[in-house]
Amino acid sequence: MEKIDVLFSNEKIDERVKELANTLYEKFHDEEVVFVCTLKGAVFFACDLMKNYKGDARVEFLRVSSYEGESSTGKINLKLPLKAENINGKNVIIVEDIVDTGYTLEYIKDYVNNMHPKNLITCTLLDKKARRVVEIDPDYSGFVVDDLFVIGYGLDYNQKYRNLPYIGVVRK
Ligand code: IMP
Ligand code: MG
Repeated sequence: MEKIDVLFSNEKIDERVKELANTLYEKFHDEEVVFVCTLKGAVFFACDLMKNYKGDARVEFLRVSSYEGESSTGKINLKLPLKAENINGKNVIIVEDIVDTGYTLEYIKDYVNNMHPKNLITCTLLDKKARRVVEIDPDYSGFVVDDLFVIGYGLDYNQKYRNLPYIGVVRK
């Protein structure tokens, strides 16, 4: 395997994910929430977030893709849809791995909003703010990252490295 520089250790991620789970719980407490996990990248984050979430929760999965190699194509493909009955009237939390240009989050937000949730909020582990093209900000984010291509903890480079327990950058 290539040399990888660690940006966020497993411990640092755990700590931040616990904080986020508590912040979300403070917002909804006794109201049930539906975590909408976007596959595949957000799967580790969504699992850890849910394990630390103290209230009533459900989970649904959505899959979209836009990336090829290191660049977003801007064209979003819906690969696995949601069922409207699982979203309609619910408190929905979209869980993303990373917001980069913002095209994906914008697409997902519109898609979910069309199913008329009671509440819709977005929570991303990473926010690559400097790369934003669309005017959109996640409601909650774990860490802001510089304009680097990051991998690990669910994030991939051409499907590789998702299994790393930390977030890092491949050394060039
Ligand atoms: P956006 O549509 O440009 O905001 O891209 C968002 C999606 O691209 C994320 O959900 C990721 O799947 C992927 N992505 C963006 N930046 C990175 C990165 O640095 N590493 C791995 N995947 C990324
Ligand atoms: Mg993604």
